[in-house]
Amino acid sequence: MNQVKKIAVIPGDGIGPEIVAEAVKVLRQIEKMFGYTFDFQYVIAGGSAIDQVGNPLPEETLSTCLAADAVLLGAVGGPKWDQNPPELRPEKALLALRKELGLYANLRPVSLIEGLEKRSTLRPDVVEGVDLIVVRELTGGIYFGEKQRNQSEQGEFASDLLIYYDYEIERIVRLSFEMAMKRRKFLTSVDKANVLESSRLWRSVVERVAKDYPEVTVEHMLVDNCAMQIVRQPAHFDVVVTENMFGDILSDEAAVITGSIGLLPSASLGEGQMALYEPIHGSAPDIAGKGIANPSATILSTAMMMRYSFGDEKAAQAIEEAVKAVIGRGEVTVDLAPAGQQALSTAEFGDRVVEQLVQRK
Ligand code: IPM
Ligand code: MN
Repeated sequence: MNQVKKIAVIPGDGIGPEIVAEAVKVLRQIEKMFGYTFDFQYVIAGGSAIDQVGNPLPEETLSTCLAADAVLLGAVGGPKWDQNPPELRPEKALLALRKELGLYANLRPVSLIEGLEKRSTLRPDVVEGVDLIVVRELTGGIYFGEKQRNQSEQGEFASDLLIYYDYEIERIVRLSFEMAMKRRKFLTSVDKANVLESSRLWRSVVERVAKDYPEVTVEHMLVDNCAMQIVRQPAHFDVVVTENMFGDILSDEAAVITGSIGLLPSASLGEGQMALYEPIHGSAPDIAGKGIANPSATILSTAMMMRYSFGDEKAAQAIEEAVKAVIGRGEVTVDLAPAGQQALSTAEFGDRVVEQLVQRK
């Protein structure tokens, strides 16, 4: 019997609709192969929602997501809305969605796809064997602390409060230890404990939780050093856990290792089964509408959906293997194509992944 799953789909802005269309194409094939019925419910958020209804996260979008089994998101944002006040920025939709859905853990796996060793900005011998996952705290820290903008005797000032409660740290740290147990049992906790009080609390919580996981080797690394080590010896890392903003920055940095930010998927998990899946890249307004964006990150995000929301490791691996096979043959979009080589369009790449899945069957 087919399992029925409700998937809320938010194409969003810029290249969002183009890449999401390819991910849905792939999920349609997964339906046939693995016995699912996916009920895709399209909703708006971000800049397009601001344009249509004057609200980056309309009530209906939120309620549809809350009632869904999983959410698939393309990307939000663009220069058109850059001058808008904070409440009317497309990013507000994403932040509110994460917060409202309680998605505190953002998983960003980074591994090298065979055939792409030369596309990395780092030397092939440096990127060999890279297989790490950044676990980014997603609903706390400086992103969500109180914001102020005011006048004082010294002039105008602005502040963003970086605050963490120990329960917020503990749940993300625990999840990271669990993840490390299923991997190489090596956890790097990244902080700025030489300066920030919130980092000192972070470190003490890691030390406390570590006692429950004696098999896991733990190292603490300062964020500036980590930024360097990620490009110096990326293969050193297994699970990297860190707070919201450090994780935002480090995961973009880690993305170049694979050759293109267009390859990296993410999953945002909470306490329940409900989770959100999105590429780590943005809406790329400069190439939007041209049909040249790389849909891999979004397609690979659906693999994470199969794995984490539906507990279907086989379907997840099928998607991952299909993407790897197509890329491995050198059939790539323009971001990964060597100079002078004909590149695939976004839709052609999606078609190849589906064909690859069909052959496997
Ligand atoms: C990301 C993005 C978002 C973030 C932006 C769009 C708010 O950069 O998902 O990494 O900073 O979290
Ligand atoms: Mn980011």
